Amino acid sequence: EKGGYDHFMLKEIYEQPDAIRDTYRGRLLVKEGIIRMAGIDDNIEKFINADRIIIVACGTSWHAGLVAEYIFEDIARIPVEVEYASEFRYRNPVITKKDVVIAISQSGETADTLAAIKLAKANGAFVFGVCNVVGSTIARETHAGAYTHAGPEIGVASTKAFTTQITLLTLIALKLAKVKGEISNSDYRYHLQELELIPEKVAKALKSEDHIKMIAEKYKNAKNFLYLGRGYNFPVALEGALKLKEISYIHAEGYPAAEMKHGPIALIDENMPVVVIATKKGHYEKVVSNIEEIKARQGKIIGIVTEGDENVKSLADYVIEVPESLESLSPLLTTIPLQLLSYHIAVMLNRNVDQPRNLAKSVTVE
Ligand code: F6R
Repeated sequence: EKGGYDHFMLKEIYEQPDAIRDTYRGRLLVKEGIIRMAGIDDNIEKFINADRIIIVACGTSWHAGLVAEYIFEDIARIPVEVEYASEFRYRNPVITKKDVVIAISQSGETADTLAAIKLAKANGAFVFGVCNVVGSTIARETHAGAYTHAGPEIGVASTKAFTTQITLLTLIALKLAKVKGEISNSDYRYHLQELELIPEKVAKALKSEDHIKMIAEKYKNAKNFLYLGRGYNFPVALEGALKLKEISYIHAEGYPAAEMKHGPIALIDENMPVVVIATKKGHYEKVVSNIEEIKARQGKIIGIVTEGDENVKSLADYVIEVPESLESLSPLLTTIPLQLLSYHIAVMLNRNVDQPRNLAKSVTVE
């Protein structure tokens, strides 16, 4: 049932090219220049007239929501707020009929997300679900929705659910950008073409596994890790840290790279591995100067870089390459090495990778 893999998590990491393709299949029509999604088409007025989009989710799904915030605001020019469902539901939040709420949940059963949906509905908002499990409670409780087609995710640590959520939310953002006239035809077409290429680029990123294993061996005994990223890759840093924490039990923090100097820089010494997402597009020079600051304090640098990068390579202890893509699509690629790094560290530490202690696959209690 693990298809020859040692763990479900590894199998699911390797399923991502297919899972992403399955998620855009029938929706992303590159030749025609169309994105077809019934749940959006049928409710297009609600999305276009929305004052803002509020995304509610927990854990990894919340990280996918943060990536979506960047793309919705960047290309569709719709204001977005991303909320932890557990905070949102108890905050007496301001919700109106002009709000569209997007609830993201792999399982479709997360208690806090479900409660946030009920609150939003009671206040007249239109609620759209992004779920993986067909027929799940959240899928049924929302006004409309779209499924990620990741297939069953068994490993407790979410992997393919995350990348397919981002894929789906990217389709929605592109569609709304087009309908609202916020994106030029050529830019739109370019995005569609690049999105279609993501599965093969993910497959290429997976080829770094042996190299990543070697890096895991070097740092598996570290007590703390710091993950840094900027822009679209800031949420990827959060997700990378969460993956490491939950399956290896090593403390890790994700931070926006530029915030490092406002505190976390005090932690950096020769025992601190810092994973820095430093792909070519998006604040590259600024991230490089953050890397120089880490190096000056003897921190160990693992750079996630664009193929062929020489600059970061000359500064970092190790680099892991991912194929080039649009900045907005780069989280789909930069996430891959971070999944593999935490997986291999956890395996080397003899952790129960698929069933980490204290965690459940779906959190149906608050
Ligand atoms: C992390 C993880 C959790 C879930 C969170 C939300 O790997 O699996 O953080 O992402 O419990 O679950 P769903 O998406 O099912 O609502």
